[in-house]
Amino acid sequence: MVVSRADMGAESPVVMGASQDQPSIKQTQLTPYFELNGVRLYKEDCLKGMQAVLQPGSVDVVVTSPPYNIGVKYNAYEDTRPKQDYLDWMERVGVAVRRILSDKGSFFLNVGGTLKDPWIPLEIAERMRKTFALQNTIHWIKSIAIPKRDAGKYENIKGDIAVGHYKPIGGKRFLNDAHEYIFHFTKDGDVELDRLAVGVPYQDKSNIGRWKKAQRDLRDRGNTWFIPYETIWDRETQRPHPSTFPVSLPEMCIKVHGLDRTRLVLDPFVGIGTTALASLKVRKPCIGFDVDEAYLKEASERVKAFKSSTEPLGNSQGTD
Ligand SMILES: C[S@@+](CC[C@H](N)C(=O)[O-])C[C@H]1O[C@@H](n2cnc3c(N)ncnc32)[C@H](O)[C@@H]1O
Repeated sequence: MVVSRADMGAESPVVMGASQDQPSIKQTQLTPYFELNGVRLYKEDCLKGMQAVLQPGSVDVVVTSPPYNIGVKYNAYEDTRPKQDYLDWMERVGVAVRRILSDKGSFFLNVGGTLKDPWIPLEIAERMRKTFALQNTIHWIKSIAIPKRDAGKYENIKGDIAVGHYKPIGGKRFLNDAHEYIFHFTKDGDVELDRLAVGVPYQDKSNIGRWKKAQRDLRDRGNTWFIPYETIWDRETQRPHPSTFPVSLPEMCIKVHGLDRTRLVLDPFVGIGTTALASLKVRKPCIGFDVDEAYLKEASERVKAFKSSTEPLGNSQGTD
């Protein structure tokens, strides 16, 4: 089913035509599956879609999580390919992303492995090495335990902390995998970031002013990002997709790249539209591709339900 623009009410999507500060989108025969408020979703293979829809250098931030080739039960996509085929494909995705990424753009690639095959993320990163500089490696922490005795004298920490969820495992060989990678690739490794856009307050306020660079109560969070999944009570209706990331993940990636440097966001494997929601939150236009219509339908519902998205978008700063 293609949702026509007429079905979408009178809201005016962001104008993504050629102008000095808006990247131009190719005139193409490819019809969007859904389009609203600057979000444009295509039911298309991302390699074909990027080629058909996006001009060279037109995207400033790519945030995505591809299939990991670990046998996840997707609706349509078969997540078990011969390893070398899969890595060759990932390499082609990297080359396609480089074409559409602006020279100072950021490509955030979220990948995890399995306990039995922990090399997958590193093998993908190695394939991307031919095409990109690895500017940062961010660790998405899903669960963390901090005993009070190790936290030191922070007065906000009253006792032992253990936050976040994971599915407990059997056997004795492995530790629970409570982390995934977010590789930050750029063309030349020299993209300026807005670190404090995802900064955290100082625990020890006496640090403020002590160093020249610490003039306000905000410091770099570093490359370990604790991002728990949003709590849900009905997986079927609230997260009908086997491997999503939380909205905060793409939101933080876009913010750390810098909102004033972001004209257009892309997720080549958009799933149920989490990156589109994050883009709406920070008021940036977003393009997404997925091969699965059921996921795109859910993505469109989530975008429609996103209440604060009704104003026209621009290059404004984020909402929170
Ligand atoms: C890990 S999931 C992404 C989930 C997404 N981050 C979210 O939060 O909803 C990977 C997605 O890639 C899609 N996919 C698989 N092959 C694709 C292709 N060639 N082009 C575009 N999407 C594809 C799958 O249908 C799946 O939804």
